Amino acid sequence: MELNNLVIIAICVVLGTAHYLIRQRHQPTQLIIRDANKAKQVLNNYDTASRARSNQRLHFTFGISNPFTNPDDKYRHEFRKVIAKSIKLDDKEWQNIKDIVLKTVNDYTHLETSQDSVVVEIVPWIQQITLNVVLRGYLGMTNIDKVIDEVPSMINNLWLISKELDCITARQDENLKFMLKTKCLFKDLFNMKASSRPQHKKQNKTRNVMEEISKIARSRFPCAFNKVPSSVADAADLSELNKGFHNPSGDDLVNSLNVIIPAYETMWRVVLYAILEIKIRPLLRNKETTEGIYNTNFENLGNAVKVFLENPKPNILKHDSRVTPLWHVIQETLRLYPPTRHIHREKEGLKVTVDVEAIHRDPKIWGEDALLFKPKRFHEKPEEASFIPFSTGSMKCVASETFAPTFAAIIISAILDRVNNVALNQEIKGTLFQKENGPFENNRRAFDKVKIKIY
Ligand code: HEM
Repeated sequence: MELNNLVIIAICVVLGTAHYLIRQRHQPTQLIIRDANKAKQVLNNYDTASRARSNQRLHFTFGISNPFTNPDDKYRHEFRKVIAKSIKLDDKEWQNIKDIVLKTVNDYTHLETSQDSVVVEIVPWIQQITLNVVLRGYLGMTNIDKVIDEVPSMINNLWLISKELDCITARQDENLKFMLKTKCLFKDLFNMKASSRPQHKKQNKTRNVMEEISKIARSRFPCAFNKVPSSVADAADLSELNKGFHNPSGDDLVNSLNVIIPAYETMWRVVLYAILEIKIRPLLRNKETTEGIYNTNFENLGNAVKVFLENPKPNILKHDSRVTPLWHVIQETLRLYPPTRHIHREKEGLKVTVDVEAIHRDPKIWGEDALLFKPKRFHEKPEEASFIPFSTGSMKCVASETFAPTFAAIIISAILDRVNNVALNQEIKGTLFQKENGPFENNRRAFDKVKIKIY
């Protein structure tokens, strides 16, 4: 083993132990909020720094410095402006995204070449389709095949490992080394393999999101770009994790994941759960025991999808009555399976967690059938005030009004349009069947290795 490696391992072990001891002293008190009104008070009153403080794990794990992890409110405003500009798309751009989505679904399903059917692992399949569309369709990146192959599982692994950092385990030093290596790999993949090449003049202005973010970061944090980042300095973050903020490096500030994590990590979950409820749930129903429980029918959904794909843009999604069933599917997916299940804030030693999922499943608000997927409920409750998948207040998701729901709707529609039928093998059916009358599990591992046959 090289001397350098030995030194890094020794540092990791020492820092791991220090981290454990420091955590004992710095553990904040935790308050969990499941009341919608109290949640709104918190979300309206806590500031950028309180969010960033509670998200230092994200900074540490992925090396990102964006409004989720950076306490500077002026930077958040500037970052928000860049994103807001980049997601204002005209009709042609929405059509372009649709073309990319349809091609991606075909490519990843090999529908054009296969005979009748193909077997896919549902989670990686949806993750790769979504990432492809975020990178190609939204960020205008090209040359990204390797990124698409590798990044979804790298992100999954990092999330899982970051959860283990709370307890000292025998794998602590291995985990740290893996994290450092993965961060370097991300950098290589995005900086060298993929390049952002706008396709026409208009895109040149609106799409070069990463370049614009780099510009604002350089002018706000010039010192960060003078520092030479090193893996050892990164490792030192672990002991700092619970002490407060640690300064971002230039690398953190221009990391492509600053945009990709908020956009992709939320989006693939919406697509996954919508497809599970529409295509998989009906395969699990036992007609005799669930008769009457589900009165959801997706009869008009096929037509809504067709109409929407002809002219995919936000006002059609929200206001064309022929497309309403699809709009309600998006809303109901965001209700029952909010991609951001918990929103955290932390100040003065108090960590406040808004339990969005619990609020969205509260029978006092949504009725006795709160745990069932019933898109039609949004017909009766189109403006339910306790519906907060995008948070609320000044830090509400910048993409909530039009971009995020329309983008999700295009991906979901393309999959529904191209995939006729789905089959599950008996064993998987058995596992999922236990949840026949409740929501599907909402954790990262829930559908590991679940394969479906697509016709
Ligand atoms: C269905 C998809 C999405 C969901 C459910 C979602 C959810 C959220 C939530 C809950 C927050 C606030 C988090 C907090 O306060 O701690 C947020 C903020 C944010 N989201 Fe989204 N998001 C989605 C899609 C996107 C996309 C596609 C983008 C970028 C193109 C994006 C960019 C951002 C940014 C920049 C912020 C920070 C806004 C600020 O602090 O001013 N999101 N999102």
